[in-house]
Amino acid sequence: MRVLVTGGAGFIGSHFVRQTLGGAYSELADAEVVVLDKLTYAGNEANLDPVADNPRLRFVRGDICDAGVVTEVMRGVDLVVHFAAESHVDRSIAGSADFVITNVAGTQTLLQAALDAGVGRFVHVSTDEVYGSIEEGSWPEDHPLLPNSPYSASKASSDLLARSFHRTYGLDVCITRCSNNYGPYQFPEKVVPLFVTNLLDGKQVPLYGDGLNVRDWLHIDDHCRGIALVAASGRAGEIYNIGGGTELTNRELTERLLAAVGAGWEMVRPVEDRKGHDRRYSVDITKISTELGYRPRIDFETGLADTVRWYAEHRAWWEPLKNR
Ligand SMILES: NC(=O)c1ccc[n+]([C@@H]2O[C@H](COP(=O)([O-])OP(=O)(O)OC[C@H]3O[C@@H](n4cnc5c(N)ncnc54)[C@H](O)[C@@H]3O)[C@@H](O)[C@H]2O)c1
Repeated sequence: MRVLVTGGAGFIGSHFVRQTLGGAYSELADAEVVVLDKLTYAGNEANLDPVADNPRLRFVRGDICDAGVVTEVMRGVDLVVHFAAESHVDRSIAGSADFVITNVAGTQTLLQAALDAGVGRFVHVSTDEVYGSIEEGSWPEDHPLLPNSPYSASKASSDLLARSFHRTYGLDVCITRCSNNYGPYQFPEKVVPLFVTNLLDGKQVPLYGDGLNVRDWLHIDDHCRGIALVAASGRAGEIYNIGGGTELTNRELTERLLAAVGAGWEMVRPVEDRKGHDRRYSVDITKISTELGYRPRIDFETGLADTVRWYAEHRAWWEPLKNR
């Protein structure tokens, strides 16, 4: 089996590649992996160092919007797992053009090439942010899409395109929508690595607004295992929420990060709230649990302690990224 992983040099895609080549997913045992990644500021080939010598890995530097490159890498592919995206909400607020180009046009380019090449399955990796914000309860997969940021709007658009390729052309597409991930190798602009690395450097951390926005935190390994399950056993044309981590306000998350590095609240600098800041995200994971037997395995306390330790022990990975 040959798997094309787009965005495989990013945070989540690289974890999926390392785990696949490491034999973590029985469904993908012996799979050849082709990574297509543009290596934007968020992509880092070093994220694949642990598997760089694996003969089943091929790395192609290229843009998912480039139909020529995409057609070439799609040859002989059985499964596409599509992670590549512009992924940072704050950057989408500062300027949304790249988000529309990569997340919408890039996804269309991939879907068309997958259809033309007769690919067996296309897993489109999306986010719970497409649902908008919810005060109480949790979203099932058929909840209307009400994205509030240019990032989530571009992801919602790509979800709709992916679904349309199933409905119109019969392409075997599955869509996953996951909650907030944490873990190693996350670019230090996102809240967990930003706060941990700032604190390790004795710098303050910026907390948005009243700090009461709620996110569901899921370890990256649980997310990737959910994706592998959907790739192997999901039903064509279906959407699967992935989550079931730990819901925390940003204040609670900050308190845990401060405690993990032995710092106090004086290290927190309140800053003006993010524009259009969603108050709460919460996905209902009944479908993936009952259909595919999914449940998260890594409890937050252990996962966060391991993650903080990883950043403490991998300065050589993140210092150059922060100093750019
Ligand atoms: N991080 C989260 O908490 C989270 C949660 C749910 C869903 N997601 C989704 O998972 C996917 C991966 O997220 P991430 O956090 O790993 O993102 P990331 O920003 O760490 O990585 C994105 C990767 O895509 C590559 N890329 C960007 N534009 C490209 C292009 N035009 N052509 C080829 N490669 C390109 C980058 O170089 C990078 O390697 C995204 O689709 C995101 O929407 C992320």
